[in-house]
Amino acid sequence: MAKILVTGGLGYIGSHTVVELIQSGYEVVIVDNLSNSEKTVLDGIESITGVLPAFEELDICDEKAFQNCMTKHAKIDAIIHFAASKAVGESIEKSLDYYRNNVFGIIQLLSLMRNNNIKHLIFSSSCTVYGQPDKLPIDETAPRKPATSPYGNTKQMCEDIITDAITSYHDFTAILLRYFNPIGAHPSAKIGELPKGVPNNLVPYVTQTAAGIRKELSVFGDDYNTPDGSAIRDYIYVVDLAKAHVKAMQRLLACENKKEIEIFNLGTGNGVSVLELVKTFMNATGVNLPYKIVGRRAGDTEEVWADSSFAEKELGWTAKTPLTEVLASAWNWEKKVRGIK
Ligand code: NAD
Ligand code: UD1
Repeated sequence: MAKILVTGGLGYIGSHTVVELIQSGYEVVIVDNLSNSEKTVLDGIESITGVLPAFEELDICDEKAFQNCMTKHAKIDAIIHFAASKAVGESIEKSLDYYRNNVFGIIQLLSLMRNNNIKHLIFSSSCTVYGQPDKLPIDETAPRKPATSPYGNTKQMCEDIITDAITSYHDFTAILLRYFNPIGAHPSAKIGELPKGVPNNLVPYVTQTAAGIRKELSVFGDDYNTPDGSAIRDYIYVVDLAKAHVKAMQRLLACENKKEIEIFNLGTGNGVSVLELVKTFMNATGVNLPYKIVGRRAGDTEEVWADSSFAEKELGWTAKTPLTEVLASAWNWEKKVRGIK
């Protein structure tokens, strides 16, 4: 049984991935500093899988603590690196914090991988590295445009640092996964997204509005050059996304990579507008969702969706879950968290 260290494993995508890893037979060690998650997520993971994974509460930027963890849990076969700061708006306010956590974090991680002879890495990247693409859908060969936020910069820098480290040392392999817009919650409603404060992202705002916590959803712009005027994204079910990590891990551990570093887009290939998503949510849940149209949000791109055919071909993976089911899962999770029947 391979042992996988998962940084940020109590976070939104990390926790869903830990569940899929355990259910696929991997031993998991979670590292998280709880800066954007709760320890109770462990209970949800245990309740779904019947396994309580090892958990180390530490900051990956703390070299001594991270090294002690690697010594304690030796031998680790591979790492999935989710731990990062991820709020685009906040990254503009607190850019140095973002560079420290995300960029220093990856340098620390790669150095410790070398010191501890850990050979395989999966890194959480983002479609934000593409900016507003010239051509849709976007495949992995599309150029990376200048990032529109410090957060986006950190993802581009981390991709470059991993690539350069592999060029320098040739002693490990990596897969970079570029996520599109992950949404939804585990079908058990035992884990899901837990944003702190007012959500920035669309789906948590939608479910909190449906729950009566927010008065109404603001739809940011209906004057885009899209069929209904609202912006288009590629919303991918977090459980489908988590399963892609298992496929990528199998490939890494079997050393099936055709190159030392590979990049995969993870999306559905379907663009969905904000207004379409709102209507689908109402149809899927039967809940009325008050919304109003407001101006565009600064820094937003008009439309983005993925060509994930490389992941389909090489990983044997596709995102299959219908949007209605995904939005129903998000609503079930919100109801559970809020105690709504
Ligand atoms: P999240 O905030 O829910 O999870 C990140 C976890 O990492 C949290 O549990 C947090 O406590 C932990 N963490 C942060 N800094 C840490 C540190 N220095 N040491 C230890 N733990 C630390 O975020 P998420 O949505 O699960 O995102 C996971 C990864 O995927 C991130 O790298 C993010 O940038 C990337 N990503 C997310 C999205 C998205 O829409 N959610 C899209 C593209 C890429
Ligand atoms: C952004 C980032 C992405 C990051 C993701 C998760 C960019 C270009 N994209 O994605 O890298 O991984 O956040 O943090 O930086 N919307 C509303 N009303 C709302 C909220 C959102 O209309 O209250 C709209 C937005 O304008 C957008 C869509 O919904 O068109 C999705 O927004 P959001 O969930 O914030 O994700 P992105 O901006 O696509």
